[in-house]
Amino acid sequence: VNALAAPATLDTPHLRLRHPTLADAEAMLAYAGDPEVTRYMDWPTQESVASVEEFLRGCLARLADGSELTWAITVPPSDRPIGTISCRMHGAEVDFGYVLHRAFWGRGLATEAARAVVGWLATLDHVARIRATCDAANVASARVLEKSGLVREAAQECATVRPNLGPEPRPTLTFARRRTELPGAKGH
Ligand SMILES: CC(C)(COP(=O)(O)OP(=O)(O)OC[C@H]1O[C@@H](n2cnc3c(N)ncnc32)[C@H](O)[C@@H]1OP(=O)(O)O)[C@@H](O)C(=O)NCCC(=O)NCCS
Repeated sequence: VNALAAPATLDTPHLRLRHPTLADAEAMLAYAGDPEVTRYMDWPTQESVASVEEFLRGCLARLADGSELTWAITVPPSDRPIGTISCRMHGAEVDFGYVLHRAFWGRGLATEAARAVVGWLATLDHVARIRATCDAANVASARVLEKSGLVREAAQECATVRPNLGPEPRPTLTFARRRTELPGAKGH
């Protein structure tokens, strides 16, 4: 993924995805600091605006060097982030992840955001494969990935530590699709 070529905003019927700024830290703490939201994440529940700012500084540095692209999820006309979605390049493979404020769950919004990012990735010739993982117990996220056009391809035991659930590595599901098999891919 080339950061220079990455769209600064992605619009969907209900959402605007835009790059984050440090000023978003307080709004992001509302979900990144909610233990029910962070349960299956691979980072600890955030405890302060300062720690979210630190996280955002890392996101902005990776956005600048192109190694990771992050968008804040907003519901226009509000510009306040209700979630985050990001993707990372690993060779020809891109993986992505997302998180949403609990008050906005169950309305199809994570699927809408994921489809926007997957749809954009599907247009990039240098991307061969799009992948995402989730905890085996994270049924809602697995469903979002299926609805975004990915296919479950592996279940691994003892794969990922979810720090908010304890130190033991937990089972992880992998969903993926070759780029050319995705809706939105050239020639699809
Ligand atoms: C996972 C998450 C992003 C889903 O957001 P969302 O906007 O509610 O997702 P959507 O509404 O687009 O889709 C959720 C799907 O899961 C289903 N679902 C939700 N909870 C479920 C449950 N407990 N059991 C079975 N299905 C469930 C919904 O019915 C829906 O599927 P459907 O459209 O076929 O009915 C949100 O719950 C979240 O932020 N969770 C915490 C962070 C997280 O886990 N992120 C992903 C890490 S891999």
